[in-house]
Amino acid sequence: MPIPVIMDCDPGHDDAIALVLAYACPEIEILAVTTSAGNQTIDKTTLNARKVLSFLGCGAPVARGASKPLFRELIIAPQVHGESGLDGPALPEPTSPESPMSAVELAAKTIRECDRGVTIVATAALTNVAALLLAHPELKSKIERISLMGGSAVGGNWTPAAEFNILVDPEAAQIVFNAGIPVTMCGLDVTHQALVTRADTERFRVIGGRCSTMVAELLDFFVKFHEANFDFGGSPLHDPCAVAWLVDPGIFVSRKAHVDVECRGRHTTGATVVDFGGVSGGAMNVDVVTGLDLGRFIDLLDSALRRLDRGMA
Ligand code: BDR
Ligand code: CA
Repeated sequence: MPIPVIMDCDPGHDDAIALVLAYACPEIEILAVTTSAGNQTIDKTTLNARKVLSFLGCGAPVARGASKPLFRELIIAPQVHGESGLDGPALPEPTSPESPMSAVELAAKTIRECDRGVTIVATAALTNVAALLLAHPELKSKIERISLMGGSAVGGNWTPAAEFNILVDPEAAQIVFNAGIPVTMCGLDVTHQALVTRADTERFRVIGGRCSTMVAELLDFFVKFHEANFDFGGSPLHDPCAVAWLVDPGIFVSRKAHVDVECRGRHTTGATVVDFGGVSGGAMNVDVVTGLDLGRFIDLLDSALRRLDRGMA
Protein backbone atom coordinates (compact mmCIF):
# COMPACT_ATOMS: atom_id res chain seq x y z
CA MET A 1 0.00 0.00 0.00
CA PRO A 2 1.45 3.42 -0.87
CA ILE A 3 1.86 5.99 1.91
CA PRO A 4 -1.04 8.47 1.67
CA VAL A 5 0.36 12.01 1.85
CA ILE A 6 -0.67 15.64 1.88
CA MET A 7 2.04 17.86 0.40
CA ASP A 8 2.18 21.29 2.06
CA CYS A 9 4.56 23.43 0.03
CA ASP A 10 5.57 26.84 -1.35
CA PRO A 11 6.90 26.10 -4.86
CA GLY A 12 9.74 27.05 -5.12
CA HIS A 13 12.24 25.08 -7.22
CA ASP A 14 13.01 22.42 -4.64
CA ASP A 15 9.33 22.15 -3.65
CA ALA A 16 8.48 21.54 -7.31
CA ILE A 17 11.08 18.76 -7.49
CA ALA A 18 9.68 17.31 -4.25
CA LEU A 19 6.25 17.20 -5.92
CA VAL A 20 7.75 15.54 -9.00
CA LEU A 21 9.50 12.93 -6.85
CA ALA A 22 6.40 12.19 -4.76
CA TYR A 23 4.23 11.83 -7.86
CA ALA A 24 6.75 9.54 -9.55
CA CYS A 25 7.25 7.15 -6.63
CA PRO A 26 4.84 4.21 -6.31
CA GLU A 27 5.57 4.18 -2.57
CA ILE A 28 3.63 7.46 -2.24
CA GLU A 29 0.09 8.52 -3.08
CA ILE A 30 -0.53 12.28 -3.14
CA LEU A 31 -4.04 12.81 -1.75
CA ALA A 32 -3.95 16.61 -1.69
CA VAL A 33 -1.63 19.59 -2.02
CA THR A 34 -1.86 22.65 0.20
CA THR A 35 0.14 25.80 -0.35
CA SER A 36 2.01 28.11 1.95
CA ALA A 37 3.36 31.59 1.49
CA GLY A 38 7.14 31.72 1.83
CA ASN A 39 9.33 31.44 -1.22
CA GLN A 40 6.83 33.82 -2.79
CA THR A 41 3.39 35.22 -2.01
CA ILE A 42 0.49 32.82 -1.60
CA ASP A 43 -0.93 33.82 -5.01
CA LYS A 44 2.31 32.84 -6.72
CA THR A 45 3.04 29.63 -4.78
CA THR A 46 -0.54 28.44 -5.32
CA LEU A 47 -0.37 29.11 -9.06
CA ASN A 48 3.01 27.35 -9.21
CA ALA A 49 1.71 24.27 -7.37
CA ARG A 50 -1.23 24.07 -9.79
CA LYS A 51 1.09 24.46 -12.77
CA VAL A 52 3.39 21.68 -11.59
CA LEU A 53 0.51 19.28 -10.90
CA SER A 54 -1.13 20.02 -14.26
CA PHE A 55 2.20 19.50 -16.01
CA LEU A 56 2.52 16.13 -14.30
CA GLY A 57 -1.10 15.17 -14.96
CA CYS A 58 -1.64 14.73 -11.21
CA GLY A 59 -5.30 15.17 -10.29
CA ALA A 60 -4.82 15.86 -6.57
CA PRO A 61 -6.75 18.93 -5.39
CA VAL A 62 -4.74 22.08 -4.59
CA ALA A 63 -5.94 24.38 -1.78
CA ARG A 64 -4.55 27.75 -0.86
CA GLY A 65 -3.10 28.28 2.59
CA ALA A 66 -2.68 31.33 4.79
CA SER A 67 -1.27 34.43 3.13
CA LYS A 68 0.94 35.21 6.13
CA PRO A 69 2.43 33.53 9.20
CA LEU A 70 0.38 33.13 12.41
CA PHE A 71 1.69 36.27 14.14
CA ARG A 72 4.36 37.81 11.91
CA GLU A 73 4.76 39.60 8.63
CA LEU A 74 5.70 37.41 5.69
CA ILE A 75 9.31 37.02 4.53
CA ILE A 76 9.72 35.94 0.88
CA ALA A 77 12.75 34.71 -1.08
CA PRO A 78 12.67 36.13 -4.63
CA GLN A 79 16.49 36.19 -4.70
CA VAL A 80 16.47 32.36 -4.54
CA HIS A 81 13.38 31.47 -6.59
CA GLY A 82 12.83 34.51 -8.82
CA GLU A 83 9.87 36.86 -9.21
CA SER A 84 7.47 34.06 -10.17
CA GLY A 85 8.75 31.82 -7.37
CA LEU A 86 9.57 29.25 -10.03
CA ASP A 87 11.73 31.08 -12.58
CA GLY A 88 13.28 28.97 -15.32
CA PRO A 89 11.01 26.56 -17.20
CA ALA A 90 8.02 27.95 -19.13
CA LEU A 91 5.25 25.93 -17.51
CA PRO A 92 1.83 26.04 -19.18
CA GLU A 93 -1.16 27.50 -17.35
CA PRO A 94 -2.85 24.99 -15.04
CA THR A 95 -5.67 22.92 -16.47
CA SER A 96 -7.60 22.38 -13.25
CA PRO A 97 -9.07 24.98 -10.89
CA GLU A 98 -7.96 25.73 -7.36
CA SER A 99 -9.99 23.94 -4.68
CA PRO A 100 -12.76 26.14 -3.21
CA MET A 101 -11.65 24.92 0.24
CA SER A 102 -8.91 26.47 2.35
CA ALA A 103 -5.73 24.49 3.01
CA VAL A 104 -6.93 23.64 6.52
CA GLU A 105 -10.39 22.55 5.29
CA LEU A 106 -8.94 20.36 2.54
CA ALA A 107 -6.32 18.81 4.81
CA ALA A 108 -8.92 18.07 7.52
CA LYS A 109 -11.35 16.53 5.02
CA THR A 110 -8.58 14.47 3.46
CA ILE A 111 -7.37 13.12 6.81
CA ARG A 112 -10.90 12.45 8.07
CA GLU A 113 -11.92 10.55 4.94
CA CYS A 114 -8.76 8.47 4.54
CA ASP A 115 -9.01 4.90 5.81
CA ARG A 116 -5.34 4.98 6.89
CA GLY A 117 -3.14 7.36 8.84
CA VAL A 118 -2.04 10.25 6.63
CA THR A 119 1.52 11.58 6.42
CA ILE A 120 2.03 15.31 5.94
CA VAL A 121 5.07 16.30 3.89
CA ALA A 122 5.72 19.93 4.81
CA THR A 123 8.32 21.78 2.76
CA ALA A 124 7.50 25.37 3.71
CA ALA A 125 6.66 27.49 6.73
CA LEU A 126 4.48 25.43 9.07
CA THR A 127 1.57 27.90 9.27
CA ASN A 128 -1.02 25.61 7.64
CA VAL A 129 0.02 22.54 9.60
CA ALA A 130 -0.12 24.43 12.91
CA ALA A 131 -3.51 25.92 12.00
CA LEU A 132 -4.77 22.42 11.16
CA LEU A 133 -3.60 21.03 14.51
CA LEU A 134 -5.14 23.95 16.43
CA ALA A 135 -8.47 23.74 14.59
CA HIS A 136 -8.72 19.93 14.56
CA PRO A 137 -6.91 18.39 17.54
CA GLU A 138 -9.18 15.35 17.10
CA LEU A 139 -7.34 14.53 13.86
CA LYS A 140 -3.87 14.30 15.44
CA SER A 141 -4.22 10.57 15.99
CA LYS A 142 -4.90 10.13 12.26
CA ILE A 143 -1.67 11.88 11.29
CA GLU A 144 0.91 9.12 10.94
CA ARG A 145 3.92 11.42 10.71
CA ILE A 146 5.02 14.86 9.58
CA SER A 147 8.07 14.68 7.33
CA LEU A 148 9.31 18.22 7.05
CA MET A 149 12.11 20.26 5.56
CA GLY A 150 13.14 22.87 8.05
CA GLY A 151 15.49 23.83 10.85
CA SER A 152 18.88 22.41 11.66
CA ALA A 153 20.82 21.11 14.63
CA VAL A 154 23.67 23.46 13.72
CA GLY A 155 23.40 26.91 12.12
CA GLY A 156 21.01 28.61 9.74
CA ASN A 157 20.76 29.80 6.17
CA TRP A 158 18.67 32.95 6.59
CA THR A 159 20.22 34.13 9.83
CA PRO A 160 23.26 32.58 11.53
CA ALA A 161 20.83 30.61 13.71
CA ALA A 162 17.70 30.06 11.63
CA GLU A 163 16.69 28.12 8.56
CA PHE A 164 14.23 29.90 6.25
CA ASN A 165 11.06 27.77 6.69
CA ILE A 166 11.26 27.89 10.49
CA LEU A 167 12.21 31.58 10.55
CA VAL A 168 9.16 32.51 8.46
CA ASP A 169 6.79 31.16 11.13
CA PRO A 170 8.58 30.09 14.33
CA GLU A 171 5.40 30.02 16.44
CA ALA A 172 3.80 27.60 13.97
CA ALA A 173 6.90 25.41 14.02
CA GLN A 174 6.89 25.27 17.84
CA ILE A 175 3.26 24.06 17.73
CA VAL A 176 4.08 21.38 15.16
CA PHE A 177 7.20 20.02 16.89
CA ASN A 178 5.31 19.80 20.19
CA ALA A 179 2.05 18.30 18.96
CA GLY A 180 2.99 14.78 20.02
CA ILE A 181 3.09 13.55 16.42
CA PRO A 182 6.18 11.73 15.06
CA VAL A 183 8.23 14.20 13.04
CA THR A 184 11.04 13.67 10.56
CA MET A 185 13.18 16.81 10.43
CA CYS A 186 15.16 17.11 7.22
CA GLY A 187 17.04 20.25 8.16
CA LEU A 188 20.15 21.89 6.83
CA ASP A 189 22.28 19.21 8.55
CA VAL A 190 21.24 16.82 5.81
CA THR A 191 20.06 19.11 3.00
CA HIS A 192 23.45 20.84 2.78
CA GLN A 193 24.77 17.38 1.90
CA ALA A 194 22.00 16.75 -0.66
CA LEU A 195 23.91 18.65 -3.31
CA VAL A 196 23.01 18.60 -6.97
CA THR A 197 25.68 19.71 -9.43
CA ARG A 198 25.78 20.88 -13.04
CA ALA A 199 26.86 17.35 -13.96
CA ASP A 200 23.73 15.93 -12.28
CA THR A 201 21.63 18.50 -14.14
CA GLU A 202 23.10 17.30 -17.44
CA ARG A 203 22.53 13.68 -16.40
CA PHE A 204 18.83 14.50 -15.93
CA ARG A 205 18.62 16.59 -19.13
CA VAL A 206 19.94 13.80 -21.35
CA ILE A 207 17.12 11.53 -20.22
CA GLY A 208 15.41 13.70 -22.79
CA GLY A 209 11.72 13.54 -21.86
CA ARG A 210 9.26 16.25 -20.81
CA CYS A 211 9.70 15.88 -17.08
CA SER A 212 13.47 15.43 -16.98
CA THR A 213 13.82 18.50 -19.22
CA MET A 214 11.57 20.55 -16.93
CA VAL A 215 13.55 19.51 -13.85
CA ALA A 216 16.86 20.28 -15.61
CA GLU A 217 15.50 23.76 -16.41
CA LEU A 218 14.50 24.27 -12.77
CA LEU A 219 17.99 23.22 -11.73
CA ASP A 220 19.67 25.55 -14.25
CA PHE A 221 18.15 28.50 -12.36
CA PHE A 222 18.64 27.03 -8.88
CA VAL A 223 22.25 25.92 -9.44
CA LYS A 224 23.20 29.31 -10.92
CA PHE A 225 21.90 31.08 -7.77
CA HIS A 226 23.84 28.79 -5.42
CA GLU A 227 27.05 28.97 -7.47
CA ALA A 228 26.91 32.77 -7.39
CA ASN A 229 26.22 33.01 -3.66
CA PHE A 230 27.70 30.00 -1.87
CA ASP A 231 30.66 27.71 -1.88
CA PHE A 232 28.85 24.40 -1.47
CA GLY A 233 30.15 22.71 -4.61
CA GLY A 234 26.51 22.14 -5.60
CA SER A 235 22.98 23.25 -4.77
CA PRO A 236 21.14 21.85 -1.78
CA LEU A 237 18.00 20.03 -2.88
CA HIS A 238 16.31 20.69 0.43
CA ASP A 239 12.67 19.73 -0.04
CA PRO A 240 13.03 16.44 -1.96
CA CYS A 241 14.79 15.03 1.13
CA ALA A 242 11.47 15.08 3.03
CA VAL A 243 9.94 12.90 0.30
CA ALA A 244 12.98 10.67 -0.26
CA TRP A 245 13.11 9.82 3.47
CA LEU A 246 9.61 8.33 3.17
CA VAL A 247 10.43 6.45 -0.03
CA ASP A 248 13.74 4.99 1.17
CA PRO A 249 14.74 5.87 4.74
CA GLY A 250 17.78 3.60 4.29
CA ILE A 251 19.41 6.39 2.23
CA PHE A 252 19.52 8.57 5.36
CA VAL A 253 21.06 8.66 8.83
CA SER A 254 19.00 10.10 11.68
CA ARG A 255 18.98 10.53 15.45
CA LYS A 256 16.08 10.83 17.88
CA ALA A 257 15.68 14.17 19.64
CA HIS A 258 13.28 16.59 21.22
CA VAL A 259 13.04 19.85 19.28
CA ASP A 260 11.86 23.26 20.43
CA VAL A 261 11.82 26.44 18.40
CA GLU A 262 13.22 29.75 19.62
CA CYS A 263 10.47 32.35 19.16
CA ARG A 264 11.88 35.25 21.16
CA GLY A 265 15.65 35.24 20.74
CA ARG A 266 17.45 38.48 20.04
CA HIS A 267 19.82 36.79 17.59
CA THR A 268 18.29 33.33 17.46
CA THR A 269 14.61 33.66 16.54
CA GLY A 270 13.64 30.73 14.32
CA ALA A 271 16.44 28.47 15.56
CA THR A 272 15.54 24.84 16.22
CA VAL A 273 16.90 23.82 19.62
CA VAL A 274 17.73 20.15 19.10
CA ASP A 275 18.01 18.11 22.30
CA PHE A 276 19.69 14.84 21.35
CA GLY A 277 20.54 14.00 24.96
CA GLY A 278 17.03 14.29 26.39
CA VAL A 279 18.13 16.90 28.94
CA SER A 280 14.98 18.99 28.44
CA GLY A 281 12.72 16.10 29.40
CA GLY A 282 10.61 16.75 26.30
CA ALA A 283 9.24 13.94 24.12
CA MET A 284 11.90 12.45 21.84
CA ASN A 285 9.47 12.45 18.93
CA VAL A 286 11.68 13.89 16.20
CA ASP A 287 13.92 11.90 13.85
CA VAL A 288 16.56 14.51 13.10
CA VAL A 289 18.12 13.56 9.77
CA THR A 290 21.85 14.20 9.82
CA GLY A 291 23.29 12.50 6.76
CA LEU A 292 22.56 10.75 3.48
CA ASP A 293 24.08 8.62 0.76
CA LEU A 294 24.24 11.27 -1.97
CA GLY A 295 24.75 8.78 -4.81
CA ARG A 296 21.58 6.87 -3.87
CA PHE A 297 19.63 10.13 -3.50
CA ILE A 298 20.59 11.30 -7.00
CA ASP A 299 19.88 7.80 -8.38
CA LEU A 300 16.41 7.95 -6.80
CA LEU A 301 15.70 11.23 -8.60
CA ASP A 302 17.09 9.88 -11.85
CA SER A 303 14.91 6.77 -11.79
CA ALA A 304 11.85 8.86 -10.81
CA LEU A 305 12.39 11.10 -13.84
CA ARG A 306 12.86 8.11 -16.16
CA ARG A 307 9.65 6.55 -14.84
CA LEU A 308 7.70 9.77 -15.40
CA ASP A 309 9.14 10.37 -18.85
CA ARG A 310 8.22 6.85 -19.96
CA GLY A 311 4.61 7.53 -18.95
CA MET A 312 4.55 11.05 -20.40
CA ALA A 313 6.07 10.56 -23.84
C1 BDR B 1 13.84 26.01 2.40
O1 BDR B 1 13.53 27.37 2.11
C2 BDR B 1 12.94 27.46 0.83
O2 BDR B 1 13.51 28.51 0.12
C3 BDR B 1 13.16 26.13 0.15
O3 BDR B 1 12.07 25.83 -0.71
C4 BDR B 1 13.27 25.15 1.29
O4 BDR B 1 12.00 24.67 1.65
C5 BDR B 1 15.34 25.89 2.59
O5 BDR B 1 15.77 26.67 3.66
CA1 CA C 1 10.04 25.00 0.23
